[in-house]
Amino acid sequence: MAGQEQKFFDGFMLLLGVWIGAVAGIVIFGNFVGDGAAMNEGEEETSPLSLIDERIRPIGQVALIGDPDVGALAAVTLQTETVRAPLTGPQVYNEICQLCHAAPGVGGAPVLGDTTAWAPRLEQSAELMQDHVINGYTGEAGYMPPKGGRLDLSDEEILDALDYMLEAAQ
Ligand code: HEC
Repeated sequence: MAGQEQKFFDGFMLLLGVWIGAVAGIVIFGNFVGDGAAMNEGEEETSPLSLIDERIRPIGQVALIGDPDVGALAAVTLQTETVRAPLTGPQVYNEICQLCHAAPGVGGAPVLGDTTAWAPRLEQSAELMQDHVINGYTGEAGYMPPKGGRLDLSDEEILDALDYMLEAAQ
């Protein structure tokens, strides 16, 4: 009887030992894995995973309206649209008017600096000329579209371009 109890006790202690060993093993292994993870976090910049991330990052990112990040972006876009710097006369001429008014002149448009072509036009009133440029007209030579086709530009910008062309016509 005493021998059997001893045997049982030995067996029980052995089992306990194995169990404690297993638990200790799990705890140590867990710490090891945890350390590994912590190390990755700390070295995010240089870890191979983040390097791969960097390489396969898409060129653009989709921004959805309503996204808080997009608010700032939209504000910037709106600002550039509403507060764009007005174009100067020469800028407007180079961007639009020269399409027809540069030599040799398209569709009968008087060429910039061609004093002969401009002389009879300079005899008209300034108001009529301004009206022709802003609202467009069809003359004897051809069709001049309103604002040269750029209705998004302000009257001032178009009139600055007119001034630039008239200076060259003198
Ligand atoms: C699509 C071609 C085209 C563009 C772009 C264009 N013009 Fe003209 N423009 C003409 C033509 C054609 C005439 C001549 C019409 C006529 O008198 O028969 C003309 C005439 C004029 C005249 C003479 C008006 C008059 O009363 O005699 C002025 C000034 C003028 N354009 C200014 C401009 C300015 C400023 C721009 C740019 C904002 C511009 N044009 C862009 C085609 C164009």
